[in-house]
Amino acid sequence: MSIRYETRGPVAVLTMDNPPVNGLGHAVRTGLSEGVERAELDPGIAAIVITGAGKAFSGGADIAEFKSGKQLLEPSLRVVIRALEGSTKPIIAAIHSVAMGGGLELALGCHFRVVAKGTKIALPEVKLGLLPGAGGTQRLPRAIGLEAAANLIASGETVLAETLGKTALFDRVVDGDVLEAALAFAEEVVREKRPLKKLRDVKVEHPNEQGFLQFARNTVTTMSKNFPAPLACLEAVAACTGPFDAGLRKEGELFQKLMATPESRALQHFFFAERAASKIADVPSDTKPRAIQKVAILGAGTMGGGIAMSFANAGIPVTLLEVKPEALDKGLGTIRKNYESSLKKGKLTEEKMAQRLALIQGTLSYDAIAQADLVIEAVFEDLGVKEAVFTQLDQVMKPGAILASNTSTLDVNKIAGFTKRPGDVVGLHFFSPANVMKLLEVVRGAKTSKDVLATVMDLAKKIGKTAVVSGVCDGFIGNRMIERYGIQASFLLEEGALPSQVDRALEQWGMAMGPFRMNDLAGNDIGWAIRKRLYVEHPELVYSKIGDKLCEQGCFGQKTGKGWYLYEPGRRDAIVDPSVDEMVVAYSKELGITRRAISDEEIVERCIFALINEGAKIVEEGIAQRASDIDVVYLSGYGFPIHRGGPMLYADEVGLVNIVAAMRRFARISRGDPKFWEPAPLLAKLAAEGRSFHG
Ligand code: 3HC
Ligand code: NAI
Repeated sequence: MSIRYETRGPVAVLTMDNPPVNGLGHAVRTGLSEGVERAELDPGIAAIVITGAGKAFSGGADIAEFKSGKQLLEPSLRVVIRALEGSTKPIIAAIHSVAMGGGLELALGCHFRVVAKGTKIALPEVKLGLLPGAGGTQRLPRAIGLEAAANLIASGETVLAETLGKTALFDRVVDGDVLEAALAFAEEVVREKRPLKKLRDVKVEHPNEQGFLQFARNTVTTMSKNFPAPLACLEAVAACTGPFDAGLRKEGELFQKLMATPESRALQHFFFAERAASKIADVPSDTKPRAIQKVAILGAGTMGGGIAMSFANAGIPVTLLEVKPEALDKGLGTIRKNYESSLKKGKLTEEKMAQRLALIQGTLSYDAIAQADLVIEAVFEDLGVKEAVFTQLDQVMKPGAILASNTSTLDVNKIAGFTKRPGDVVGLHFFSPANVMKLLEVVRGAKTSKDVLATVMDLAKKIGKTAVVSGVCDGFIGNRMIERYGIQASFLLEEGALPSQVDRALEQWGMAMGPFRMNDLAGNDIGWAIRKRLYVEHPELVYSKIGDKLCEQGCFGQKTGKGWYLYEPGRRDAIVDPSVDEMVVAYSKELGITRRAISDEEIVERCIFALINEGAKIVEEGIAQRASDIDVVYLSGYGFPIHRGGPMLYADEVGLVNIVAAMRRFARISRGDPKFWEPAPLLAKLAAEGRSFHG
């Protein structure tokens, strides 16, 4: 049963019991309706208390029900709330832990609300590309005022109940057992025959309603590019100063409109995709993780320093090991500078900075790290260096320690083979800057043990990372795909585009950064080194050599002040470099190519469809567990536009059959290996069957 009906003297207690978060699915809505009716009809019942079992009052509507795209089964949440509000017996919400979305709207429909301190309160629908659709945009302003409600609804922000304790949202904010407090409150209400409060009857007033709303619209317009929901939230809230039913109608119309947008589908997809990514099919959820109390990091360079900060920020002590004192001092100095910069920007207090710095110790000796529970290697990307390091780690680390590598290209199975404990070895591929970027690829070696995987997935959450499991292959999920995207970007230059046009087209489409600006940021020499290796290992692969030409001139990007663009000292703005454009045109001539005008649409399709095709291979080979994991990688680590839901969801939106047709066209018109455009078998199969990656 999703609703438990119990009586406590003259009070009926309706407990929502629908784990994990008491989502308001059909069974819960029906149970609530029936429970209220039963209590209404029972002459022995004087009041009703509604509460939630487990870890939430309610996390809101059951988002999984939205997926079907069909009208939800009756009773809708609005109908349930109307029944509560119209009840002749007092209804008291006993709210604890989490009251979000429809859960908060349900409470707003009760006559009284008793809340436990520390309860998280939000109308977060905007984060799903929606607005509160069960009266939240009309009742919340009546409880806390127009301005505060507009801010909460348009931002989706979570606040603690006590911050709203002095508003009409809560009748009582309590410490301790909220159900007992609500029962005591119900007894008072009945004894004193208090009138039933209905938020719908409250009149909203604001001294400068139009001025405030215009200011809010301006702010939201600049912040919510590509997303219609925040403005729609304000439009709905604006209706709260008029008659209640008209406001409710407006809210309903806007809700239905938003529900049909691709932006909302993308955000809902990401919500579930992120949670799915944390699960590994053959690692049971009750696998006991190993305790991680102390972490060691080898190499205090770009990555090692950022990784150390990620752990210190989460309160986990870290020891950083370097080979030379100068390198150690430099690494520790950079960490300090980074924290000082956050302090200057007001993102950190002096006290927090001191605490975090105290958690990071430097060492030159393996003895100092031998007792760590996890060691992450972030030394030079060279298999010989990794071999020396892992051989040593195998000798010194305590039994049961997890040995991780942050390698971005090397074979984790080979690295595991340098030890006598390959089950304890795993890849932890952080992204730069590691203290900022959310993505963490967990690279599962052939022998990585299940409890090691369970441990690192758990740990990723603790340090605020979004972990996605990848099998072992060149580039893992993210970089393997981006390489295909980069190949197309380079051939587009040979055929007629210029770097700034390619970047502009992809940025206008939504990518945070075009491929050439991105390469300048990461360092063109990194890709060059990878290509040089691949020329030897995979001579069959066909690459444009235009990037190599740039690197031969020492144009490595921001770090050299010159790459695909020019950079003024200390600045990151990319300035178009006419000499690079000339080099591009001259290179086409050298190859005997007649340059042609290339449309932005072709640029976007060639680059993005190349990503998608490789993604399909990655799913088919089992490198990624599911297509949505690829979306999580791209949305959390590669600046893929969130309103498009990731490359694989975008593919579904375009239609796989259209993608295959475009790829056939590109095979005819583009330079490079025509085989590049052969659809991955999975893509071809799904397209032929009229199916999609996400079913
Ligand atoms: N519907 C369906 N499933 C939900 C859900 C919801 N509203 N909220 C959470 N879940 C599921 C998650 O998918 C996850 O499932 P899994 O275990 O199978 O992966 C499980 O509950 C636990 O979720 P979390 O891992 O996120 O648990 P936390 O304890 O970290 O957080 C939470 C709990 C704060 C409630 C968080 O899950 C959350 O923010 N949920 C979304 C809340 C939300 O957006 N509500 C609005 C829904 S739309 C709505 O109400 C429309 C209405 O206006 C008409
Ligand atoms: P880096 O050159 O900035 O730092 C490497 C550090 O390792 C140097 O400080 C060096 O002194 C130290 N070192 C070398 N040998 C050592 C040893 N035997 N013991 C201890 N320290 C040693 O390199 P970076 O960029 O930090 O890369 C480190 C690893 O992270 C590489 O495997 C790289 O592929 C990977 N990586 C790099 C990313 C990036 O964007 N830079 C992104 C993701 C992974």
